[in-house]
Amino acid sequence: MTELQTTPLAPPLRDAQGRVMTYLRLSVTDRCNFRCAYCSPASWGGRKDLLTAEEFARIASVFARLGIRRVRLTGGEPLIRPDILDIAQRLAALPGVAHLAITSNASRLETLALPLREAGVSQLNLSLDTLETSTFRSISRQGDLDAVLRGIDAAAHMGFASLKLNVVVMRGVNDSEVPALVAYAHARGITPRFIELMPFGQGTPVPTAELLERLQEAGLSLTPEPEEPGTSDTAGPARYWRTDAGRVGFISPLTRNFCGGCNRVRVASNGDLRSCLGGRAQAPLHQLIRGGASDEELALAVRRALGDKPEGHRFTDAGNGATLLPMMGIGG
Ligand code: 5AD
Ligand code: SF4
Repeated sequence: MTELQTTPLAPPLRDAQGRVMTYLRLSVTDRCNFRCAYCSPASWGGRKDLLTAEEFARIASVFARLGIRRVRLTGGEPLIRPDILDIAQRLAALPGVAHLAITSNASRLETLALPLREAGVSQLNLSLDTLETSTFRSISRQGDLDAVLRGIDAAAHMGFASLKLNVVVMRGVNDSEVPALVAYAHARGITPRFIELMPFGQGTPVPTAELLERLQEAGLSLTPEPEEPGTSDTAGPARYWRTDAGRVGFISPLTRNFCGGCNRVRVASNGDLRSCLGGRAQAPLHQLIRGGASDEELALAVRRALGDKPEGHRFTDAGNGATLLPMMGIGG
């Protein structure tokens, strides 16, 4: 394997609206050890052709050269990959990657929290929808609540720069637990975030406005935080409120469209890039890597998928020849 290149590939990555892309989400597996009713996995399910740790590092290094500063590993459940520590170490070591985050169901964190922290992971978003064993069973189908709670406690003691707890709220299932989940999270120095259920599976969503009212009725005094600037590395779809004991976040895909402020790019576990700009553009990065593409060629494929015009002369000047690309199967 050749050394990864680290010099910037100018200009920085932009989408069709001109927004600078700073945030990469890498799905490292599409499998999960839970079967949450609301989370229907991609319908092409069970990809076999997963990228290796080395390939994820290669792709992330190209994005880092394009100005990506923040990488999040997602799934499925990322911690079921046997080589997750290897992946985390490689990505955390990339120059330019200032934050490495993981989204997880926490079921394997009791043993993995420390090695992940040591590998350079700085932020964790953990999922917990309920504190009741029977409700947990009915939502996750096969999860073990005690293991999850032990995992969250382990993470709370590791000094992660940011710890968040994601709660998908379903009417009549876990909505009555919202105040208790706020207290649970704040007692551990964690920021809870309540997410409006998106209609992928069963269940009825609860609008954010209603949750805010309920929390106030339960005695919480909530002050809105100013929105993070759109260009910030940390800007995301959540809106935050302050209480005496900590912050509370809300992600409201149904009652507040946040797509306009999106600064993220996604790569699936098989290396397909999804720009999610109307679901149109896509680039098969795995095929390009296997075909021997250079960093410049990968970067061009990424720019094209994001609707950005490449700088015309750059590649021919470098002798790489943009004419090589069509042979490698870039979609139109
Ligand atoms: N609605 C809202 N959020 C969802 N997630 C998965 N499915 C849904 C859905 N239908 C999010 C939750 C969960 C994470 C893995 O993905 O935050 O905790
Ligand atoms: Fe961005 Fe919206 Fe696509 Fe999410 S759905 S990735 S916020 S454009």
